[in-house]
Amino acid sequence: MKKVRVILWAFVALMCINGGLAASDAVIRGVVTDNTGKPIHGALVKAAAGYKIVTRYSQKDGRYEITVPTGKYSVTADAFGYSPKREEKDTAQTGDTNFKLSPSIDVTRLSGADIKNLLPDNAETRLIQSECYNCHSMQHFTVRRGSTAKEWQDFLPTMTRGRYPVVIDPKQNPNATQEKFIALTEALGKYFGPDSPYLSPDSDPPTLEQIKHANLSVAALSATIREYEIPTPMPMAHSMSVDPVRRIAAARRWRLQDRLCLSRYRKAYGV
Ligand code: HEC
Repeated sequence: MKKVRVILWAFVALMCINGGLAASDAVIRGVVTDNTGKPIHGALVKAAAGYKIVTRYSQKDGRYEITVPTGKYSVTADAFGYSPKREEKDTAQTGDTNFKLSPSIDVTRLSGADIKNLLPDNAETRLIQSECYNCHSMQHFTVRRGSTAKEWQDFLPTMTRGRYPVVIDPKQNPNATQEKFIALTEALGKYFGPDSPYLSPDSDPPTLEQIKHANLSVAALSATIREYEIPTPMPMAHSMSVDPVRRIAAARRWRLQDRLCLSRYRKAYGV
């Protein structure tokens, strides 16, 4: 999990949706199906080489096409409700890069929205959201799933050098109370603790029907997402800012570095 987080921080730097980038001269294509050969639509297929990743979705017939500069790529296919798979592809070799995915539900790979849909909407879950959503979604909680209320009490004040939820931190908020803190950690223990229905390490994973995963829009299916490693000595992706002309979203480290970051990305990658 730690590894996944590091990769996220380090990589998701810049995305261009259908942007006009440098001329490319190879197409990686193939089909994504399930074990029985049924096409899977909406699978994310990523072609990664060096600092750059190009991602496209598989279409209704399961087929995908990614246009890239010639070279060697690591191609992964990942769809909701299936285990991801990886293939190596050298564009000098002809032939399709196909994927057969096996059904699997791993709660640590659910999105924050999927997890939220699994929980009832009540005062406890709303308290969790109001305290924790300022900075990240419930997806992060799966790292510590199975923790009791007491363990959440011990963990929260240590979260990343004291990034304590604002409403319950007396240093940031004069209305903070110990009662609120206890109520919050009890709610966390209930929905993310050892006896929680889906999210405890010992419980059965939820079914596809229980998750109520949102379907992709038709417009999203035609998107091309390009990601670049951040060309700075200490990369740490944080907030996103959007360049309205070029449709570039840049992850930045600090507010003041925004412009600097965008111009560095452009210079480094010619976008
Ligand atoms: C002020 C911002 C902020 C708030 C509010 C916040 N967090 Fe975090 N949290 C962070 C940051 C930053 C990290 C570290 C991110 C990373 O490296 O993945 C983190 C990481 C975590 C992790 C992963 C810890 C690990 O072991 O790797 C958990 C679990 C977590 N937060 C739970 C919560 C819960 C529960 C709440 C609400 C009570 C909450 N967070 C509210 C900023 C916040």
